[in-house]
Amino acid sequence: MADTVPIIETHALTRDFKATRAVDSLELSIWPGELFGLVGPDGAGKTTTLRLLAGLLDITSGGAELAGYDLARQAEKIKRKIGYMAQRFSLYSELSVVENLSFFAELYDVDPSVLQERTEQLLAFADLTEFRSRRAAHLSGGMQKKLALACTLIHRPQILLLDEPTTGVDPVSRREFWDILGNLHLEGTTIVVSTPYMDEADRCSRVGLMYEGRMIVCADPQSIRAQIQGELIELHTEDWQMASAFVETLPGVLEVQIYGESLHVFVDSADERLPAIEAAFRDQGLVLREARRATARMEEAFISLVTRLDTARRLEKET
Ligand SMILES: Nc1ncnc2c1ncn2[C@@H]1O[C@H](COP(=O)(O)OP(=O)(O)OP(=O)(O)O)[C@@H](O)[C@H]1O
Ligand SMILES: [Mg+2]
Repeated sequence: MADTVPIIETHALTRDFKATRAVDSLELSIWPGELFGLVGPDGAGKTTTLRLLAGLLDITSGGAELAGYDLARQAEKIKRKIGYMAQRFSLYSELSVVENLSFFAELYDVDPSVLQERTEQLLAFADLTEFRSRRAAHLSGGMQKKLALACTLIHRPQILLLDEPTTGVDPVSRREFWDILGNLHLEGTTIVVSTPYMDEADRCSRVGLMYEGRMIVCADPQSIRAQIQGELIELHTEDWQMASAFVETLPGVLEVQIYGESLHVFVDSADERLPAIEAAFRDQGLVLREARRATARMEEAFISLVTRLDTARRLEKET
C-alpha cells in the first residue's frame, strides 16, 4: 500500500468543547477501501471524530484531508464524497421507505434520471423492496437502520462514516447489516464505523481504540488480540465474587476479567496453571463448574487495554 495515498488523513486533529478536549491531536491515515473500526469507552471521542470528518463540527486545531480535499477549506466538495450516519440517525418517520430515499436524494442533488434505478438497487440491497410503501415509523429497528444506511448511500459516496449503526439492534439484524457492509467493502467503499460490539470490530480490516480523545492503539484485529498479556483460562464458578477475589491471589495470574458468571483469567502459562487453579479451588472448598483453556477475543484485549489505561490514569491522579 506504500504507493497509494490515504483517502482520509488527519494531522493533529483536535476539538475542544469548553474544558473538554474531545479529540486530542489525532493522527490517522485511512487507506482507500479499508473497513476501519472505531472503538473506545463512552465519551472517548468517537462521535466527535466522525462528526469532524463529516464536516459537521468546526476544528479547534490541526486539520484533515478527505478524498484529496482539505476539510477546513473544501467541506462542500467533501460532502459529496461522504455518507454520514449519525449515532441517533433520524429518518422521517411519517415518510415511507421510498419517500425517505427520495428526500435524501434531493438533499444530495442526485440526478433525477438515475433516482429510480438507484432506489430499486438500494431497496434490493437492503432487503426492503417489499416494505417500500411502509412508513419508516412502522419498520422494525433493524429495518430502520438498513433504511438509514440506504439513505446515506443514495449519492454513491466513496467514504462512509457510520456512528454505531447497529446499537440496540437484535443480533440477526446486526449480522444482516454487517453483511451489507461487507458487500460495500468488497465494492471498494472506504468505511469508518464506530461500534460498541467487539465481534463487529473483529470484522474490520483495522481497528482504532480511542481513549480520552486519543488514539491509543491502531492495528488489525489479530495484532490487537496479540497485545494481551498471557494465556486465557475460563472459569465457571458458583460465586464469582469470591472466586475472582481468590483467583487473583494465585501464582501466575496476571489479570482477571468478569463476564457475568464466568471469569476470564490470564495466566503466564495455561498448561501449568490450569491444574494448579483447579487444585487450589478444591482445597479452598470453592465450586468450580468448569475450567478450560480459551482463545482471547477482541473483547478481552479491549477490556484489558482500557483497564490498564484506567489504572494508569487513576495512579496519575493520586500522585
Ligand atoms: N456538543 C458537546 N458539548 C459539550 N461536550 C461534548 C459535546 N459533544 C461531545 N462532548 C464531550 O466530548 C467528549 C467526547 O464525546 P463523544 O460523543 O465524541 O464520545 P463517544 O466516544 O462517541 O462516546 P459514546 O460511546 O458515548 O457515543 C465527551 O466528554 C463528551 O461529553
Ligand atoms: Mg458516540
